[in-house]
Amino acid sequence: MKICVIGPGYVGLVTAACFAEMGNEVICVSRDEEKVKKLNKAVIPIYEPGLETLVEKNLKDGRLHFTTSLEEGVESSLFIFIAVATPQDEDGSADLAHVIEVAKRIGGCLGEYRVIVDKSTVPVGTAEKVRAAIRSELEKRGSDVEFDVVSNPEFLKEGDAVNDFMKPDRIVLGTDNVRTGELIKELYAPFAREREKLIVMDIRSAEMTKYAANAMLATKISFMNEMANICERVGADIRMVREGIGSDHRIGYHFIYPGVGYGGSCFPKDVKALISTAMEAGYACRIMSAVEEVNAVQKKMVAQKIIDYFKNKGGLKGKTVAIWGLAFKPNTDDMREAPSIETIRILTSEGARIQAHDPEAIKEAKRVFGKNPSIVYFEKHYDALKDADCMALITEWFLYRNPDFERMKGLLKSAIIFDGRNQYNPNEMKHMGFEYFCIGR
Ligand SMILES: NC(=O)c1ccc[n+]([C@@H]2O[C@H](COP(=O)([O-])OP(=O)(O)OC[C@H]3O[C@@H](n4cnc5c(N)ncnc54)[C@H](O)[C@@H]3O)[C@@H](O)[C@H]2O)c1
Repeated sequence: MKICVIGPGYVGLVTAACFAEMGNEVICVSRDEEKVKKLNKAVIPIYEPGLETLVEKNLKDGRLHFTTSLEEGVESSLFIFIAVATPQDEDGSADLAHVIEVAKRIGGCLGEYRVIVDKSTVPVGTAEKVRAAIRSELEKRGSDVEFDVVSNPEFLKEGDAVNDFMKPDRIVLGTDNVRTGELIKELYAPFAREREKLIVMDIRSAEMTKYAANAMLATKISFMNEMANICERVGADIRMVREGIGSDHRIGYHFIYPGVGYGGSCFPKDVKALISTAMEAGYACRIMSAVEEVNAVQKKMVAQKIIDYFKNKGGLKGKTVAIWGLAFKPNTDDMREAPSIETIRILTSEGARIQAHDPEAIKEAKRVFGKNPSIVYFEKHYDALKDADCMALITEWFLYRNPDFERMKGLLKSAIIFDGRNQYNPNEMKHMGFEYFCIGR
């Protein structure tokens, strides 16, 4: 089948590469000429395991190519996927400017029947706006070409995106047209060989499903962080509590790790957008507002623990904090809304110097923090510890799971660890001579 994907970011690039891998012909459209040049040489702008290999292979086999010409993509493809960013607007709602701009451009060049697929996460009612934008451009040209707009939200997670796309738990499709539903079913059939995965519903429910899924996951995280905060105050161990509740099939073990709060390109903005959608519809989202509130406090938690520790030791001015992990989660270089940003911002505002390491996100961190003389980056994680007054673990990369603790003790000025991801055993740490602070234990 012939597919056009507009917006080669984390979602669009994975979508394009995976459809090409299944034998489809894919054109991926970017508005950035430099990016297109690089992508056509398989130089990808993000870190996502397995993606570069997939792009390279499909470029070589001629099933995938990148262009700045949206017209070329629309002309040659039956399916047009819109996968552009939908960032948070100033009032918390989703900013649909990119989506609508793309819709207008599609309307400006649509020549025959096409299926327009909303892959970006968009609020309920967006498909209607996309349809209206395309139609108004067609009318300007005096054209009455037929087209369909469907909602097909994406559920991949960064760090395991290729695997998630290739083996999805479910494929949600919102459409009001049975024929289009059949076309999409055919398109996704290679991804649903072992069982039927396509869940077809009306468009508004599909749009809402994406927000409900992210809201539920964010709620689980904030819930567990709240339990951890209670545990700390009453002398219970959140790890044991997690095992105790996770073993209940109705609850399950997934997504109930306490930590430094959720970040990333989705949960923060999607929770806000859902609150905004509800408000517009006259409903006050009490649970989601509390989820956000708990998360905002949790993101400051490690920095606060460090400040409290050094309060009676001359404060943080002139102290050095080593940070392990900058990306918002392991296996990505994405720093959007990463808890490390809040942590470093607070610590540096208290006068601390930062020695930071991340296996993939240093380039992105340099972009985020700009020229900041208080932050020094290290290519090797042990180097970041040298002469630091303490270490804080913010992102749970595998690399940090089983370090050489004796070596760490030798490098750090004082053997103090603030573990925002509960990676180590408090008893063992104490035994080895560390002062060890974690979450909910
Ligand atoms: N990142 C995730 O894990 C994830 C998962 C599921 C859904 N989503 C949703 O998917 C959408 C895209 O997210 P992302 O993380 O891939 O964003 P991203 O910022 O990584 O990528 C967006 C891409 O769209 C391009 N773009 C913007 N306007 C364009 C235009 N007019 N023409 C062509 N290209 C344009 C940008 O240059 C960029 O390459 C968002 O709605 C997001 O909420 C993201």
